[in-house]
Amino acid sequence: MSNYHIKHLEEYYQVYRKSVREPENFWEEVAEEHFMWQRKWDNVLSWDFTKPEVKWFEGAQLNITENCIDRHLATRGDKTAILFEPNDPKEAAEHITYKQLYERVNQFANVLKEQGIKKGDRVCIYLPMIPELAISVLACARIGAIHSVVFAGFSSTALSTRINDSDCKMVITSDGSYRGAKTIDLKGIVDEALNDCTCVETVLVAKRINSDINMKSGRDKWLQPLLDHASSDCEAELMDAEDPLFILYTSGSTGQPKGMVHTTAGYMVYTAYTFKNAFQYKENDVYWCTADIGWITGHSYIVYGPLANGATTVMFEGVPSYPDFGRFWEIVEKHKVNQFYTAPTAIRALAKQGLELVEKYDLSTLKVLGSVGEPINEEAWHWYNDNVGKKKSPIVDTWWQTETGGVMITPIPFVTPTKPTYATLPFIGIQPALMDENGKELKGNQVDGRLCVKFPWPSMARTIWGNHQRYKDTYFSAYENMYFTGDGALRDEVGYYRITGRVDDVIIVSGHNLGTAPIEDAINEHPAVAESAIVGFPHDVKGNALYGYVILKDVGETRDHANLRNEINQIITEHIGPIAKLDKIQFTQGLPKTRSGKIMRRILRKIAQGDTSNLGDTSTLLNPEVVQDIMDNVL
Ligand code: WT7
Repeated sequence: MSNYHIKHLEEYYQVYRKSVREPENFWEEVAEEHFMWQRKWDNVLSWDFTKPEVKWFEGAQLNITENCIDRHLATRGDKTAILFEPNDPKEAAEHITYKQLYERVNQFANVLKEQGIKKGDRVCIYLPMIPELAISVLACARIGAIHSVVFAGFSSTALSTRINDSDCKMVITSDGSYRGAKTIDLKGIVDEALNDCTCVETVLVAKRINSDINMKSGRDKWLQPLLDHASSDCEAELMDAEDPLFILYTSGSTGQPKGMVHTTAGYMVYTAYTFKNAFQYKENDVYWCTADIGWITGHSYIVYGPLANGATTVMFEGVPSYPDFGRFWEIVEKHKVNQFYTAPTAIRALAKQGLELVEKYDLSTLKVLGSVGEPINEEAWHWYNDNVGKKKSPIVDTWWQTETGGVMITPIPFVTPTKPTYATLPFIGIQPALMDENGKELKGNQVDGRLCVKFPWPSMARTIWGNHQRYKDTYFSAYENMYFTGDGALRDEVGYYRITGRVDDVIIVSGHNLGTAPIEDAINEHPAVAESAIVGFPHDVKGNALYGYVILKDVGETRDHANLRNEINQIITEHIGPIAKLDKIQFTQGLPKTRSGKIMRRILRKIAQGDTSNLGDTSTLLNPEVVQDIMDNVL
């Protein structure tokens, strides 16, 4: 019996040891017992990080949608697969059962075929968080087309770059989208993007906001009439284990976005297994991940991982602030959510609001809370733990990346004792390594270094679309025979990992290596501070000095800024030492952030360094308007 479901700490250690000593046996057992294969593999794993080349379950044939849908029909046909909660709380939620999902995915798959899409073709999906998004993703997988979902908050330039990079034949979009009280003209953005794309032959348009849009004849087609005529049976395409399933773009510190390529069998096995364990999902639980399917979190832990386990997965169209900041908690109460997975940036935004908004709702169904996307600072961790989890729901701080496909370092709830700001232990099968500046592995505990992974895991990205050399250079060249994550981490006295932030954010001050995250944590402890970001700027004596951007809480803070600056430096001195004191502190209304909530330190760094000549494309930011404001008030 493979240990598909880890239930106590001793079992974790035992299974972990097995996964390291006999990785092939371990993953073979998991794959064998919990999935539906049309043909079994000839070889579990072959790998060579110097090329790099990694193959899992070679020779196997399968279709991931048969695993996510068909095989549940007999026992879970009437169970809700996708629970759609619309932007407007007055609009009814939609419960899509596994049986209905089967029919809708197959109809959509037949439409794709009818429109000339074949196995291996790339299809760009640019949709809001409506059921058609999940369904079109699965429809592509059904026929072996490679989906490339682009987050529907991205600009037309960002969209056309991604469409062209992977040569997409089709775009699936909608007439528009709702975002809180606003509507967004998605089709207009697609039209603009397509002025620069000659590869796209067809645009399928779902109706969401009933706006009057322009349809280009011969190219644009309304989706619904096509679906109405399509059969709800569509044979699943036989896919090889290593056939690409999807491309998903992620931005690097330089250059064009990277189209990370994920393949079929390993991705399926790993996302399903991690979902089951990292959230301790039990039959009839309602699981909700607040991410957008436009990000890897949504691919792996809204669509594929949950559905592969026959789970009920919530898809939320709206935003946490509409109609007010109680919306998340209202949804938890309404749908009796058991597992809730969100990002630290959302937690901090909600923590800034009054507690009445949390206390108003019944959150007693919650069993597990998750965090992902950036290091969760101590204050946010406690707020989440105390007020949302009522100190009874473990927080799983899951560290992973677009590139890793699935969760890599995480507590297993009710199994791994949690520790604030620590992602804790490597997941089963994951072999992390911390490396020093000279490329030597730091053994033992209480060490701090660059986070690498020294052995392949099933869901790792296999290449960058169209640029294998860049894949090698970015991830496999920094350290010999290692996958380099780009993050720094420390391992504490019991072997727990704490992610300290991107190593490109490390600032050397007077020869001291300072990570941004712990300093920001310290600043955020000041009662008047809502959020902060620090960057380095050149200094005559110290090499670099620290520049802090600080957002104050919305409490009508009237105190003298000079005093506040002193107090902030006092806190830093207390937490880290005088070496980490900030030379400059700029109070600001906002920080430039990516759509996934990451602070764009690159922009802040340039402004602090007085070099605003080339800030790059700021149009894809969540809040491009704050950039000018910060520039106007630079110190
Ligand atoms: C980077 C990857 C994984 C899905 C969302 C982000 C940071 C992610 C954590 C965490 C500390 C984290 C890392 C990583 N990150 N999760 N729990 N604690 N940092 O995917 O956009 O590919 O970003 O996000 O820096 O390298 P992504």
